[in-house]
Amino acid sequence: MVVTGASTGMGTATARELAARGYHVLAGVRRERDADAIRADGIEPVILDITRPEHVQALVDRIAADPRRRPLRALVNNAGISVNAPVEALPLAEWRRLFDVNLFGHVAVTQALLPFLHRSGGRIVNISSVGGKVALPTYGAYAGAKFALEAVSDSLRRELTPHGVQVAVVEPGAVRTEMAGRGAATATELAEKMAPEHQQRYGGLVKAIVAHSLAFTRTGLPASKAGSIVAKAATARRPRTRYAIGRDAALLTRLTRFLPDRILDRVVAATLRAYLPEKARRVAPAVA
Ligand SMILES: NC(=O)c1ccc[n+]([C@@H]2O[C@H](COP(=O)([O-])OP(=O)(O)OC[C@H]3O[C@@H](n4cnc5c(N)ncnc54)[C@H](OP(=O)(O)O)[C@@H]3O)[C@@H](O)[C@H]2O)c1
Repeated sequence: MVVTGASTGMGTATARELAARGYHVLAGVRRERDADAIRADGIEPVILDITRPEHVQALVDRIAADPRRRPLRALVNNAGISVNAPVEALPLAEWRRLFDVNLFGHVAVTQALLPFLHRSGGRIVNISSVGGKVALPTYGAYAGAKFALEAVSDSLRRELTPHGVQVAVVEPGAVRTEMAGRGAATATELAEKMAPEHQQRYGGLVKAIVAHSLAFTRTGLPASKAGSIVAKAATARRPRTRYAIGRDAALLTRLTRFLPDRILDRVVAATLRAYLPEKARRVAPAVA
């Protein structure tokens, strides 16, 4: 089994859950200290930044030279970063950085490991998000990459099913991990660098989104619970095409199928209004 982004959160939890179920896990981390922290019975850390071709090649070499010649059962594309900023104000370099990690990195690892998965009749589990189904304001880049990952996963599943390789998508709602805190720090840093007119237009919105995201995450499931759902997607004999994590995710993904856009816009605006700083609340239609 390969799990990317295993230094924290759902990646760590998934690696531990798979190891507890008796699998040997190659756990992707970016730093030696994270490798030392996760190394355990059944968990072998590998240095893997999914945006670096030489790391991906080293993973391929490691699997090809497996001393016990174990087949690769599953690849869990879990690594991810969170960026919240208005479409108008997010510098293109940041758009590219996010897509490099949250989309192209997964495609790169998938392409590199597919020869092994074809041989083993294995599977790919892509970690998407409710953000892959509904895009809140300031989530243009994050949700854009997750919507794309959903589409890539559908396409991949339809390409690979005839060849015996399964593809499952996991759609978490709120899960208590490092992501919200890291995302809040990035969003605040980006907001501080916004041009004055963007600050004026979106400053309140960014603050509301950060407060909403932190509050939403506090109500979330523990990472261990999410890890066991991801492990199920990676090991179930007949995996579902999609797994929601949390009732919020299951409800939201269903709602987006039935609610007209304008109604959904109002639901989103009403949800965020409670988090807007006082001044911005008076111009709340800006988020509608
Ligand atoms: N938590 C939630 O509520 C939630 C909701 C929906 C979807 N998700 C999705 O769940 C997945 C896991 O997130 P999480 O909540 O567990 O967050 P997390 O605790 O922040 O973990 C993210 C992981 O991705 C790794 N990563 C970041 N950039 C990377 C790169 N270039 N190459 C390889 N690894 C990289 C991080 O490693 P470093 O420590 O080295 O940075 C970390 O191990 C993500 O895809 C996220 O979008 C999470």
